[in-house]
Amino acid sequence: MAAADGRWWAPWREVDGATILQVDLAPDAEREAHAFALLDDEEKGRWRRFLAARARREFALCRAALRIVLAERLGCDHRLLSFGYGEHGKPFARVKGLPAVIGFNVSHSGPHGLIALAPREALGVDVEERVPRRDLDGIGSLVYGPAERRLLACAEGQDKVHLFFRLWSMKEALIKALGSGFSLNPSRFEVPEPMLQGVRSSLFRFPHASAESWRLLDLGEDRFAAALAYRVSP
Ligand SMILES: CC(C)(COP(=O)(O)OP(=O)(O)OC[C@H]1O[C@@H](n2cnc3c(N)ncnc32)[C@H](O)[C@@H]1OP(=O)(O)O)[C@@H](O)C(=O)NCCC(=O)NCCS
Repeated sequence: MAAADGRWWAPWREVDGATILQVDLAPDAEREAHAFALLDDEEKGRWRRFLAARARREFALCRAALRIVLAERLGCDHRLLSFGYGEHGKPFARVKGLPAVIGFNVSHSGPHGLIALAPREALGVDVEERVPRRDLDGIGSLVYGPAERRLLACAEGQDKVHLFFRLWSMKEALIKALGSGFSLNPSRFEVPEPMLQGVRSSLFRFPHASAESWRLLDLGEDRFAAALAYRVSP
């Protein structure tokens, strides 16, 4: 990714009032040191607890980029920002200790990172590098619902890999928008039928909370599978 201004992130998509930035997660020691220096003490402590170089890199590069872009949006110095965490670990921003009214979510997979920002708060983004795995149907049987599993069983080769990660990214974006993490079994809900057929955007309701509706967008492209979800009501 070109970063003439020294930034390792750049605008990627604007959808429905949300801005999505792409973060370059390729190894780069100088950039990582710069990113690390932007983190606060709590974040530096978290970085140290990651044992793998890749996990450290993903966290530092995404979190430092997130700090800068949030501070720009909120019109404050990034050193005034801190992050709190919901019951299942979803981060939210604070300025001088007070919750900031802004939605954001982060995802990283291999060399790809995405940051989504929007005025609304319930927002989820997911990116998935399409890494071929041996037992896609087996993994699918754990996380996909009946219609999703049937569709996956009919696909072969590269089509199966694409479908697997397309479904994964859409379901994960929904889980991340909700903020529930692993507390919600992903096989208990399915991607809306039109999206199973290839449509790129649809409304969605979780079966366990059908009063709320969500917008789900498939943002996959050649390099990766990706999706965005946000709450539209109430
Ligand atoms: C965090 C979680 C939501 C996703 O983790 P992951 O697979 O590593 O995914 P991503 O890289 O897309 O997202 C990580 C980022 O999401 C954010 N995040 C953490 N917990 C979150 C939560 N409960 N909700 C939303 N976002 C969360 C963080 O910013 C985190 O990045 P950071 O630690 O660098 O700040 C994970 O806890 C989880 O529960 N995933 C569900 C897995 C699953 O069953 N998927 C099936 C899809 S079919």
